[in-house]
Amino acid sequence: MIANVLNANERNIDKYKARKACRKPFFFIQYSDPQFGFTNGEKYDTKPEEELMEKSVEIINRLSPPFVIGTGDFWHHKRYDPEMLLYKKYMSKIDPKTKIFNVPGNHDLPSLEDEDQNYYHTNFGPSRFSFRHERCAFIGINSQYYWPEREENEYEKEQYEWLIHELESAKKCRFIFVFAHIPFFLEKDDEPEDYFCVKQPLRNKYIETFKRYGVNAIFCGHKHKSFVGKSGNLDMVTCGAIGLPLGGFHGMNLIRVFPDRYDFNYISLDDFPKAIEKNTLNLL
Ligand SMILES: [Fe+2]
Repeated sequence: MIANVLNANERNIDKYKARKACRKPFFFIQYSDPQFGFTNGEKYDTKPEEELMEKSVEIINRLSPPFVIGTGDFWHHKRYDPEMLLYKKYMSKIDPKTKIFNVPGNHDLPSLEDEDQNYYHTNFGPSRFSFRHERCAFIGINSQYYWPEREENEYEKEQYEWLIHELESAKKCRFIFVFAHIPFFLEKDDEPEDYFCVKQPLRNKYIETFKRYGVNAIFCGHKHKSFVGKSGNLDMVTCGAIGLPLGGFHGMNLIRVFPDRYDFNYISLDDFPKAIEKNTLNLL
């Protein structure tokens, strides 16, 4: 038998496996902006964030999602080891059964200068990711390559090519989710530009690309307040902060993926469910 050519029965088994995988619901958690050292600013006092991150890790370990995704601003002061190491310390408290994926925020990677890039990459490895779970695609990108810039640059171009490649190979996935620190917009794709969102013309470039490839939702942070927006069928979900809120409350996003739909809820760290029922994903 020629390798890679399956007989009819094997093909059916393969399809059956794929369909079965499709029916399995799952959930995951997105968190953003724990930002050690932000609440008390110049005092370099991280006590408030330590308490909040402790609480967050407790929730993650209690619910035990297959993975969590952190969308940046893990610490506050530029290249400041004590704050950066605190984030690492709390990552290590997350049960290894739960995988952790990170993309950098503007405080983790304040510029594209070598010193800043090396600091992030040395401590956290690549600043983007792409993986599959239950036939859904999860793609994380480094928004520092296109914010606060307006123009394409060598890093942006290289990452964009990589993104297109990843989106091409995700075409057959049930759902495609993208993660980044800076939101493309908060509520409407034509809202005025400000510090908190991607600027034009790059905003449109990415939104059009995501729509062309059937991306379902983008999950970001940076605003320290939860927002939900839409551009056509594309959901733009901005997660509030674990750390200091700038409106709203400390929380994380709980995302549930069912066979035929998904939903997302920004939940206060004080109100997270005790457990999640595995088959129905009901909150208990
Ligand atoms: Fe932040």
